[in-house]
Formats: sequence, structure tokens, C-alpha cells
Amino acid sequence: MNLRPRILVNVAMSADGKIDSAARKGAAISSAADKARVDRLRASVDAILVSGRTLLNEDPKLTVKSAELRAERVRKGWPENPAKVGVVSDIGAVLLGAPRGQGQGMSDHQNLPLQNFLSSGPAKVYLFTTRCTEPEVLARFEATGAKVHAMGEERVDLMAVFRSLHEADIRSVLVEGGGTLIAELLRLGLVDELTIYIAPIIFGGSSSPTLADGSGFLAEQAPSLKLKSVGKFDDEGGILVHYTVNDKE
Ligand SMILES: NC(=O)c1ccc[n+]([C@@H]2O[C@H](COP(=O)([O-])OP(=O)(O)OC[C@H]3O[C@@H](n4cnc5c(N)ncnc54)[C@H](OP(=O)(O)O)[C@@H]3O)[C@@H](O)[C@H]2O)c1
Repeated sequence: MNLRPRILVNVAMSADGKIDSAARKGAAISSAADKARVDRLRASVDAILVSGRTLLNEDPKLTVKSAELRAERVRKGWPENPAKVGVVSDIGAVLLGAPRGQGQGMSDHQNLPLQNFLSSGPAKVYLFTTRCTEPEVLARFEATGAKVHAMGEERVDLMAVFRSLHEADIRSVLVEGGGTLIAELLRLGLVDELTIYIAPIIFGGSSSPTLADGSGFLAEQAPSLKLKSVGKFDDEGGILVHYTVNDKE
């Protein structure tokens, strides 16, 4: 049986559908109220997943910021923070792009890049990669305590990622981008819910990332959404939209 966790995708988007500006440096889009909402969403799930470029370029912490929400998780018998999951075809790419001095020194794993992702917590860390990642790079990341899985030759098998997370008792995953990964998840029918915070700003630019990049969908294959709620969200003019995806009910 193909068991997998429930998969929720959350993005912050400009009014013209871009999830970052053309600079691709993680432009600020969310309001303070939206950041608090995302924190509550994080606190409600078993794991948070990000993909290659978002992980390697931004090194996100992916922890629950509110001490109250973390304490509430602990009271429920849950880990203080959700597990963190990264999907990267070649983890070695991060060593090549690392600032001078970082990533060198084979024995010193504290000197590795991605310290926010690897060390902020406490949280379990999973890295799913391919056999493009050199065995010694796998070993260095494993030495940080991360659970590192090399599956597939060039692309990570996302179905296998979610099967493996389910086997690790992870029942809900919040996906926090980017656009290439979200498109792939939609194509594979792996998204259950989608929440979008739409900020009153326009980034424009044909090369700015969107919610679903990749090669796009033909009309007859386009994932269909069912609107659950929509409304003005904050005093900054933000809108929050909540959909279920491919909902047959
Ligand atoms: N506003 C928001 O809510 C939000 C949230 C997150 C990110 N972002 C923005 O999104 C942009 C990044 O998005 P992006 O589309 O460029 O990249 P992305 O989706 O973050 O990462 C794409 C990369 O992930 C790896 N990947 C994805 N699926 C894979 C698979 N099945 N197997 C193996 N590797 C896989 C690949 O790495 P390789 O190329 O190495 O194969 C791929 O190029 C950034 O500008 C970021 O700021 C915005």
C-alpha cells in the first residue's frame, strides 16, 4: 500500500503570482500576522519540507518561533519542533558554494554550511538526495546527526520520500517551497491542501519564481482546486486563500 503523510503546501505570493522577486534572494512577502500564522501551521505538523535551491540558498531554520507553541507541542507529547526535511539532488553543491573556510576540514561537521537547517532546534533532520552526492559528503552530513537517504540516480523519488517519512511515523508535512518542488508535487498528485498569502505587491519579471514552476500543465492535466476559504487577512492588505487539491468530495 502506498501510505504517505498528509501534505500541506504554504506559500507567500505577490499579487501577480510570484513567490520571490527576480533576484531570487528570498524577498520579504509575509506580514507579521502571516508569519505568526505560518508559525501556528508549523506547530501543527510533524515535519516541514523544503527543496534544493530554497535550502541551499537560504539555509532556513524551519523551527517554531513561539515558545508558547513549542511548549504546547511538548505538553501533547510531541517533539518541541517538527522534523526538518530537505530534498536536494546533490548536497555537495552546497560545499562548492560555501563561503571560504566553511565546508572545508573533513572532520569538522560544525564547519559545514546549512548550520541553521542542521542545528537550529532541537529537531530531527532528514536529507533526501541522490547517488550524485559523493559518499564522503553523505558521511559528513550524517555525522551531524541528520538522517541522510540517497535514493535515485539524478532525481529524488518524491513518492519514496513520503513513504519513508510515513514509516518514520510522520503523518503531516508542511511544504514551504520552492516553486520547482511544488510543481513536481502537484504533478504527482501529492498535495492535499494549499494555503496562499497574497501580499499587495507586484514583483513582475518572467524569470521570477512562481508557485508552480517547471514545465507547466496542459489544461486537461491541470490540478483542480476546491476553495475552502478566502478573505482579507491583515491590516497590510494581505489576503489568505485556502484550497484543497484534487478533492473528489
Ligand atoms: N514565498 C514563498 O513562500 C517561498 C517559499 C520558498 C521558496 N521561495 C522562493 O522560491 C525560489 C526557489 O524556488 P526554485 O523553484 O528555484 O527551487 P526549489 O523548488 O526550492 O528547488 C528546486 C531544486 O530542488 C531540487 N529538487 C526538487 N525536486 C527534486 C526531486 N524530485 N529530486 C531531486 N531534486 C529535486 C532540485 O535541485 P537540483 O537543481 O540540484 O537538481 C531542484 O532544482 C527562491 O527564490 C525562494 O526564495 C518562496
